[in-house]
Amino acid sequence: MNDETKKQINERYERKLEKGERFWPDTIFKDVVMSLGIFVLLLLLATFVGIPAEAKADPSDTSYIPRPEWYFLFLFKFLALYGQLPLIGKIEWLATVLVPTIALGVLTLIPFIEKSPHRHYGKRILPISIMIVMVVGIVLLTLTSEVPTVAEDGSTLLGTLQTISGIVIPTIAYLLLFAFKNNTRFMLWTTGLAAVSMIFLSGTVLALTPEKEAEEVEVATTLTEQITAGQDLYSIHCTECHGDDGSVAIIEGVEGLEGEKITPINSRDVLYTITDASMVELISYGRPNAGMPPYGKTYGGELSKSEIDYITIFMRYSWDDRFEAPVLPELFPPLADGEVPSYDVHIQPIVKRYCISCHRPGKDNNNYLMTTYEEILTTGDHAEFNVIAGNETSYLLQTIQGQPILDENGEEIISIMPPSRLLNENVVDVFMRWIMNGMPQTAADAAALSTP
Ligand code: HEC
Ligand code: HEC
Repeated sequence: MNDETKKQINERYERKLEKGERFWPDTIFKDVVMSLGIFVLLLLLATFVGIPAEAKADPSDTSYIPRPEWYFLFLFKFLALYGQLPLIGKIEWLATVLVPTIALGVLTLIPFIEKSPHRHYGKRILPISIMIVMVVGIVLLTLTSEVPTVAEDGSTLLGTLQTISGIVIPTIAYLLLFAFKNNTRFMLWTTGLAAVSMIFLSGTVLALTPEKEAEEVEVATTLTEQITAGQDLYSIHCTECHGDDGSVAIIEGVEGLEGEKITPINSRDVLYTITDASMVELISYGRPNAGMPPYGKTYGGELSKSEIDYITIFMRYSWDDRFEAPVLPELFPPLADGEVPSYDVHIQPIVKRYCISCHRPGKDNNNYLMTTYEEILTTGDHAEFNVIAGNETSYLLQTIQGQPILDENGEEIISIMPPSRLLNENVVDVFMRWIMNGMPQTAADAAALSTP
């Protein structure tokens, strides 16, 4: 800075002072107004937009992968990409200690390297260029933070593109900017090219990233919803072996476990000795040696963490006498005299609770599937006998009333249904009225058949 400019600046400062504009209180006041505005904006965003909360923290969940808050994602991504670099990629402290130190050091040193007294941006090209490359880099790293560096099929193409865009280009840009810090035109070109190529590469990466499967959503929020959701899931996955009320002590009708003695899981023995956390873990991992398969996705099962939570909640509130269950909605509306039940309103929920666990694809069930209206009427090794309109000898009706089906030699070919425990009378009555009246599907069809 030569004396001439120094004099000019001092003069300008004197003029401002004369006008009465001071740091305190004038500039501070502007700052306060601005910060207050941002604060109010944050309050409004938090109140009206918010961010979705994650599931409740669970210290026993070993499958949880922690992620940093979004404003740290760029560092997280930087570290992941850095690990991809040849040679130095393995030396982690370079990335975690040295690089951030250099970055902070450079930011601190910029005023000393670039001593221009001017405030106009046209005269502050070096710091502005560095800032542009850095901000573009941070934004892009944040945007691509979800993209894996190694794809599921083992391809590293996306990882390489990300490393070029996130580390290689910015590094080259910074070096060039410092090397040619007196050549304005060169610095502008460098910054422009670096930013454009980084945006282009990251855009390509995002475009090439396969769509992720929809994240698991929490559907049940109230306790009643969670218990009901848990009951449905329990009915589908667990009744087969443990019975609809957890009371089964000897497994029947399940291939490979026929006659197996188990502790009823609705007993105090089980409920008082297993905490919620270990119950979730037990259901996730199963009891592979005893014949109970794993249910948690982490162990190759079908259920998500929150689904297993719902089953646990259902078990507690239904069987554990230390918990008082809220009033749950009835499985199906009670039938009046002469009222005909329909598939949609009555049969479907009953089948879902008592039969689906075995009568769905992949289970031992004589190919009798019960997941849809059509399947109930048309599938099974004995399809033509299972459900016959107006006929009490339909196999379905006989078996749920405790009469096994025998062949001509008197050998049992179909056991009672469900195999381990008979249904309540009112449930049997629903099946009976439904089949005797021609299996109406919709509530309207059923109403037309009902007699007041
Ligand atoms: C294929 C049969 C089968 C299915 C399906 C099944 N289990 Fe099990 N389960 C078993 C067997 C066998 C045991 C071991 C029983 C024992 O050792 O007393 C067991 C044990 C348990 C126990 C521990 C009991 C104890 O004595 O500690 C719980 C709790 C349990 N199961 C819950 C469930 C839940 C919840 C589901 C559904 C998500 C389920 N099970 C599905 C067969 C099954
Ligand atoms: C624990 C598993 C299990 C449950 C629960 C269960 N079933 Fe079955 N079901 C079977 C098996 C296994 C067969 C094959 C015959 C046998 O082994 O007895 C079968 C066969 C049948 C058949 C004969 C199908 C054919 O074409 O041969 C009918 C009808 C039937 N079940 C009805 C029901 C109904 C209705 C329910 C619900 C109320 C039900 N089942 C629940 C295991 C089950």
